[in-house]
Amino acid sequence: MERKRVFSGIQPTGIIHLGNYVGAIKNWVTLTKEYDCIFCVVDYHAITVQQDPEAFQQGILRAANTLIACGTTPECCTLFVQSHVREHTELAWIFNCLTPIGDLERMTQFKDKSQQHRDNINAGLLTYPLLQAADILLYRAQIVPVGEDQVQHIELTRRTARRFNSRFGETFPEPDWLLSQTPRIMGTDGKTKMSKSLGNEIGILEPPEAIWEKLRTATTDENRIRRTDPGNPDICNLYTMHKAFSPAETIAVVNVQCRSAEIGCIDCKKMLHENIMRELAPIQARAAEGERNPGYVRGVLRQGAEKCRALAAPLMQDVRAKMGLPGE
Ligand code: AMP
Ligand code: TRP
Repeated sequence: MERKRVFSGIQPTGIIHLGNYVGAIKNWVTLTKEYDCIFCVVDYHAITVQQDPEAFQQGILRAANTLIACGTTPECCTLFVQSHVREHTELAWIFNCLTPIGDLERMTQFKDKSQQHRDNINAGLLTYPLLQAADILLYRAQIVPVGEDQVQHIELTRRTARRFNSRFGETFPEPDWLLSQTPRIMGTDGKTKMSKSLGNEIGILEPPEAIWEKLRTATTDENRIRRTDPGNPDICNLYTMHKAFSPAETIAVVNVQCRSAEIGCIDCKKMLHENIMRELAPIQARAAEGERNPGYVRGVLRQGAEKCRALAAPLMQDVRAKMGLPGE
């Protein structure tokens, strides 16, 4: 039986953080065992915000290197850069012409981003989810592993597939979104989603001391003022992180001993730091090795793009033919 196809993407801006890792990337690596997985560094999505060309180019390679270090290796999946496969933007244009503007204006990410970048509310920010729909549907992916913030975009992708199919005939499957066990972690402020653009992130390649400093000063249960006050793990972001990084026994201990004030926040943070670093240390070592060998990373991306172009070209030919766009 043919394996189901998985597709997901990440923007190459800023640093890859713990939210990206536990919300998406860790799950991607698990899925490679069972599915035919394609992962993408979505550079065209990132230019909805102004990028400095030189730093941008380095950021794209660094993101790819980090993903490989996390386990998205060519032995188990396909990794490529979006702009290497022209059909993404081509299909996105077609979807632009099928989608009412109202559907796009309703997207939470559009509303948030246009608040954040008031001086640059460009059309790409609005049509961003249709490029995402094109990414997914171009490979007829059935499963899209993402963090919670992307669910609305996958729902739009489903509607887009349905719209195309009903007008031009069955072409695209409607993909399902798949959340990880930790679909959303908050930033070090404990109030807003951990995000590259909010400055509240902990990067997965940051040195152990830097990660400790961020954890040490991170907001916990704000009702717990004194060491002797009982805490409530259910509302504490650090506990969410424990659930993602610590073994079951530690999670159970933290849950009980935080409530009974047997441990303080600093004790809890120390345990968390140890467990986070246990998981990140090998990733950091592999990433450092990759940094020294950019030729390898470029090679992986080249190979990935070749494979994706071979999948995308016939699909686009079919789409053009169905729409009455003449071949040469
Ligand atoms: P982005 O950095 O926006 O390209 O996101 C890449 C992936 O990480 C997407 O699947 C997001 O849903 C996921 N993600 C981003 N931030 C978080 C977070 N704070 N918690 C969980 N998942 C996240
Ligand atoms: N929009 C996603 C984000 O901001 C990134 C992305 C682009 C994506 N294309 C995708 C995710 C396709 C899943 C599938 O996180």
